[in-house]
Amino acid sequence: VTDPSVDVAATNDLAPGQVIAIEAFGERLALWRTDAGVPRVVGRACIHLGANLARLGKVKGDLLVCSSHKWAYDGTGRCVTAPGEDVLPEQCLVVYPTAERNGRIIVTNQPEE
Ligand code: FES
Repeated sequence: VTDPSVDVAATNDLAPGQVIAIEAFGERLALWRTDAGVPRVVGRACIHLGANLARLGKVKGDLLVCSSHKWAYDGTGRCVTAPGEDVLPEQCLVVYPTAERNGRIIVTNQPEE
């Protein structure tokens, strides 16, 4: 059994609209904060062509948008905008439950796809 939750950053290290690279549970992840202030953790690879969302992801409101081709993901990891596709992809980003406690950002190892 792996550690169920880990402290990945200080609350103050992640401003609204910011995206940073983290590693947890042996996975490369992207930690981001919605413009409204909600922290989220997702798998780092865009499901389109695998761009690094920790580097190329841009927050737009409640969405994380990949700068490569503008695919956009909501807080559940679902792709809600996929320019160039006739149908939205069924595949989602992996999302890890994320919370803030005592000035720290805590991620739980219960990935959802
Ligand atoms: S690689 Fe992310 S939208 Fe194409």
